[in-house]
Amino acid sequence: NELPHLSMCVSCPDFEKAAKTVMPRKSFIYVSTSANTGASLATNLDDWTRINFRPRVMRNVGDVDMSRSIFGHKAPYPFYISPMGTMGAIHAAGEPEMIKGAVRKGAHMVVSTASTKTTEQIMQSFVDEQKRLKDSSPTRLFFQYYMPVDRQKAIELMRIVKKAGYKGLWITVDTPVLGKRTQDRVLQAEEALAVGIEEDSTADWEAGGENAFAPAMGGRVVSGQLSPHTTWEDLSWIRKEWDGPLVLKGIQCAEDAKLAMQYGCDGILLSNHGGRQLHTAPSALMTLLEIRTYCPEIIGKLEIFLDGGLRDGSDVLKALCLGATAVGVGRPYLYALAAYGAQGVERVTDVLSEELATGMRLLGISSLDQARPDMVNATRLLNE
Ligand code: FNR
Repeated sequence: NELPHLSMCVSCPDFEKAAKTVMPRKSFIYVSTSANTGASLATNLDDWTRINFRPRVMRNVGDVDMSRSIFGHKAPYPFYISPMGTMGAIHAAGEPEMIKGAVRKGAHMVVSTASTKTTEQIMQSFVDEQKRLKDSSPTRLFFQYYMPVDRQKAIELMRIVKKAGYKGLWITVDTPVLGKRTQDRVLQAEEALAVGIEEDSTADWEAGGENAFAPAMGGRVVSGQLSPHTTWEDLSWIRKEWDGPLVLKGIQCAEDAKLAMQYGCDGILLSNHGGRQLHTAPSALMTLLEIRTYCPEIIGKLEIFLDGGLRDGSDVLKALCLGATAVGVGRPYLYALAAYGAQGVERVTDVLSEELATGMRLLGISSLDQARPDMVNATRLLNE
């Protein structure tokens, strides 16, 4: 199984196939794994194909403008790289390699708390790449935050993040405990059997699920710190401590979207963590449709992001028609990083933006400001 030439990757699924030829089984499983039977991941992928466009024709689509801003930071695309931990297990250079690819194409990126390198090292690699390009790239880094148990540590980390120059804080709220990562457990059992240990790995995961993150935390956040105790009340002190843009990542119903607004968040990210947390969680698309029905006033007041299963520029376009500010893309970027390094990351951005530009032209719009809910028909998804 030879790694295909990069030019053979012409759509997002190609990067997964390429990555499978070169990735050690353990890291491939880390990326591809999902919760329980895999139903949440399958729904994420499937739901995008279950809504259709309602295209308009003859509308002069010679030039298209795909640019979008996230909290005032304009990028050439309405999609960004989702926060994903432990990139050191995916590529020898880790997060800085992903950042190179992002900066060269001007894509925004959200950096994970569970990164292999420290918060400051990652920012330094961004600054270095920007310098190399004479600060011409619009790329900005935002920070994804797992709430530590210890409030003092939480505050300390927020200060580090602020000082380092990250442009916003994305607090992940769908992970009070780690979901059941099925393939990871099979692998763990296999590894144990290989050294002659015949024990059930379930108890381990239940007792210390969050500890599974520990080795990845770049030394900053240590074992047992992923807090299952966080409540909405915590947002009041967080809001005092963090005066920049604040986003809750992992909102999965209209009620919580409303609460996020009441508690002073600037944005919400509709997400089921790439299908890795709650079994049969709603897709982000379903949650967006729910918000459109039950609290449409939120759209326009908060910046609305979503992620999960976006594998084509047309998926991105559907999300924007329905009111998303911008969307996150996860696994395709990790697979590309594994197989081709920064060049692969650049190519995913090219593939998605080409598909988006073509989709916009065929839909009959020349700028994303023209993307409207009536350009999408979701009745099939909603009525089935
Ligand atoms: C993730 N995700 C994630 N989210 C988060 O808030 N912090 C993290 O550290 C990670 N780590 C992580 C690792 C890997 C390997 C994956 C695949 C995902 C979830 C991620 O931000 C995003 O929500 C999903 O990946 C989006 O779905 P797709 O695009 O991968 O289908």
